[in-house]
Amino acid sequence: MKLTPEQQAMLNGEKGETMAKVVKTLVMYGDTFGAERMVPISSKYGHTVISFGLKVMKPVYDLYQEIIDAGLVSGQKFTADPKPLDKHVPSSLIEDLVFKKFMYTYQDSYEQQLRELGITSDDDYTCTCYLDQVGNKPGKGEVLSWAESSAVVYANSVLGARCNRNSGMIELMGSIAGFVPEFGLLLDENRKATWIVELKCSKKPDAQLLGSAIGMKVMEEVPYVKGLDKWLGTTLDEEACTYLKDFGAATASNGAVGLYHIENLTPEAVEQGESIIAEGAKTYVIDDAELERVKANYPVIWKNPDAEPQLCFVGCPHMTLRQLIDWTTAVGTELNKNGLKKVTVPTVFTASTPVIKEFEKTPYYKQLKRQGIILSYICPLMYMNNPLCKKKAVITSSNKLRTYTSARYYTEAEILHTIKMKTFKGRVVVPGTCTAEALVSHGGFNTLASYQMGMMFGDKQMKCGDQNNADIYKKPMIGKALCLPMTIGSTTGGMVL
Ligand code: F3S
Repeated sequence: MKLTPEQQAMLNGEKGETMAKVVKTLVMYGDTFGAERMVPISSKYGHTVISFGLKVMKPVYDLYQEIIDAGLVSGQKFTADPKPLDKHVPSSLIEDLVFKKFMYTYQDSYEQQLRELGITSDDDYTCTCYLDQVGNKPGKGEVLSWAESSAVVYANSVLGARCNRNSGMIELMGSIAGFVPEFGLLLDENRKATWIVELKCSKKPDAQLLGSAIGMKVMEEVPYVKGLDKWLGTTLDEEACTYLKDFGAATASNGAVGLYHIENLTPEAVEQGESIIAEGAKTYVIDDAELERVKANYPVIWKNPDAEPQLCFVGCPHMTLRQLIDWTTAVGTELNKNGLKKVTVPTVFTASTPVIKEFEKTPYYKQLKRQGIILSYICPLMYMNNPLCKKKAVITSSNKLRTYTSARYYTEAEILHTIKMKTFKGRVVVPGTCTAEALVSHGGFNTLASYQMGMMFGDKQMKCGDQNNADIYKKPMIGKALCLPMTIGSTTGGMVL
């Protein structure tokens, strides 16, 4: 690799031993992929994929400390991937113990390191750093040093920026040095499409399912998708960008796509038309049956494949403001149709903190809360990335989450249907049959507090006395079939029953 005199001086130690090691790492990385030179990073901000203080990654944090001690803050400020923990997301005592004592023991100290290295803000932990609310949106043709696969594919394809699918740490080293090796998707010849994907679906395909099918077929190559503009139009408006965010994340995780072109829509496809398709490109035809085939082949790795869903995640990659509003509205419509007030499966929507703050200003935020949906900034993958979660029946609309964890993929329509199921399934303790109107408590049922009006004040209707239970407080319980996930509170409850 040919270095400029300035880069060579850095490699020789002119800016200190630690910077020399950083440059040497980038040179070795470039040599591995046949890069002939380094090119300057031209984006305003970087982005790091490592957002978690995992105990097993201590050597990484030691190395970052060496960089900090040498005074090598990042040459550009950067955003980071979502955090792994949020107390608002349901977890059991044992999970909390595992998260805090065995897995993410370096979380606080690592976040402090990121501050010292140059993270833009404590709010900027998200994989959708390119959204307007976060502000790390590179321009067309800008060279980046990012690693988060869903963000890299979005930046290359939708924004027309140039970035390789780098690894964690390497991307931060690029930001520190200010340059990256030139190879792969930084070069024009590698941005040509080597696959033509012809869409012949009868309706708009689910973004995450289509991305999965294409990713698994083309793997690391570049697809040129024909026929999607029929549904997305020819303008990169909010709706099209949101679709492409989810579509791209699936191509990048179910395969290794770093760049795709959508005919008549994405910048390089619009500019260059079919001349961007390489000679001898292969063809993949996708119709309704092909998407069904792909979906039917996803393995179900739940311990009990027939289990009722226990948790639902929507928002991997993080949701946009529009998605939060649209999902809240759609959930509301479904609940109304079924005479329900709250979702019946604990459901978590994830989005960046800046998007959540915007959402909180809208009337939809209160509606979402009333529906019992939890809003969080976490990365669901990080949350599920432990052996305990394998036992949980988690459903998701994310094909990326499905790929990395035991979560089961449902289309958006299936998710909407599932999280408002009216069937309550429990465990048989005493066999027999009886019929009664259901009284549903979504949270733990405090037996003593609930029965105190009847027990102590002689209320004949046995109205629920637990003011902390918004579902059933003051509702008559007499003659009802109580549906509850667990009992909580004083053990006196057992005596009362
Ligand atoms: Fe984002 Fe985490 Fe999914 S980084 S794409 S929410 S796996």
